Amino acid sequence: MRAEEIRRLYVKFFEERGHKEIASASLIPENDSDVLFTTAGMHPLIPYFSGLEHPMGKRLVGIQKCVRTDDIDEVGDAFHHTYFEMLGNWSLGDYFKQESIKMSFDFLTGVLGIPAERLAVTVFGGNEQTPKDTEAYEIWKETGINENRIYFYGMKENWWGPVGETGPCGPDTEIFYDTGANPCGVNCGPACECGKFVEIWNNVFMQYNKLSDGSYAKLEEKYVDTGMSLERILAVSNNLESNYETECFYPVMEKIKSLTKAANPQNYTREYRIIADHMRAAAFILGDGKKVTPSNKKHGYILRRLIRRVIRIIRMMNVSENILPQIAEVIISINAPVYPELADNREFICDQLNKEFIQFGKTLTLGLKAAEKLFSHLAPGEKLDADAIFRLFDTFGFPPELTGELANERGIAADMAGFKKRLADHQEKSRRAQ
Ligand code: ALA
Repeated sequence: MRAEEIRRLYVKFFEERGHKEIASASLIPENDSDVLFTTAGMHPLIPYFSGLEHPMGKRLVGIQKCVRTDDIDEVGDAFHHTYFEMLGNWSLGDYFKQESIKMSFDFLTGVLGIPAERLAVTVFGGNEQTPKDTEAYEIWKETGINENRIYFYGMKENWWGPVGETGPCGPDTEIFYDTGANPCGVNCGPACECGKFVEIWNNVFMQYNKLSDGSYAKLEEKYVDTGMSLERILAVSNNLESNYETECFYPVMEKIKSLTKAANPQNYTREYRIIADHMRAAAFILGDGKKVTPSNKKHGYILRRLIRRVIRIIRMMNVSENILPQIAEVIISINAPVYPELADNREFICDQLNKEFIQFGKTLTLGLKAAEKLFSHLAPGEKLDADAIFRLFDTFGFPPELTGELANERGIAADMAGFKKRLADHQEKSRRAQ
């Protein structure tokens, strides 16, 4: 099945059930948002989850461009991305659990032909304010899902939202595809991260508004917000082992392989995937039409991090020329038929990638100088502290691995563990500020 077919079938399925199609919003949220990027299909719809009437009615369907940076460390595995397309359907005070679950099940099994035995689902196990979701459990049983494939989990797994600190949220039910593999070797469930289960679709039953004091107020109406990753459903419905083998990525991966020319390409799967993922996110952010450019703050900072991570990996693979625009060209040609803004902004995308490549080159030179200065004060056997490594990284964007290597060469111990902790604290702070 092709990506275009899945997009079309999804929208058609929900249109036939009374939904109106809405267009993808920009990746940069329009309204005052406490997060930098559009992270889910419901994100541009937030005002309509609090009583405001949507001009297109109570049943909506759409495909939204999303960027999430909280999964960035997971990128490189088979199924996580920074940029992805989210297929979603929404009920704004109309249908609720029964219809929502039934439609998801019918679409997956009836339209995409995924065998029901391959599915496993999770439902909310309850907490002080929201009871165990026995209703969703019963509905899943009615669809024919075996009860030993229905798992109750807590807030961590089965509660979604809000976007940022406050706003609509609620218990959810998640649908997983069982790959049939069993890497962990025990009888695990969907919460296990071994890779046996891939989350494909999330149905959120929005019933609460999280307030700034941390409490939850009940929403007047009941809402449904669902989200399914196009990349994952494409991989699963084509029996592929990772999203990178789908048409969304395969040509990009091939291009990266041919440009980086590694002698043992099989050793670089993770690197190729990170390059492909981050380049796709960078191309979509640059191509969004909002003219975000790499910088040291907000959207520009995230964009810069994505691009610089790619450059670092490429350098680590001993490629010194700028191959970024060539990779971007493949990404643009795959996606422009659906997202023409990428073609409209082709020049801007390639231009910014070129500029950042040059800028980062200068940064590395400056960083090297600063690193040399630090080392000149240290004798072999002495230690380079975590703050110094962090400053090099933060001020010059100087790769910590490189600092570690330089230290090594000089017999100086670099506090990499301390640096990692310092970085994690810093990332946590930026995540909260996002
Ligand atoms: N908004 C929900 C999610 O992103 C559907 O999982």
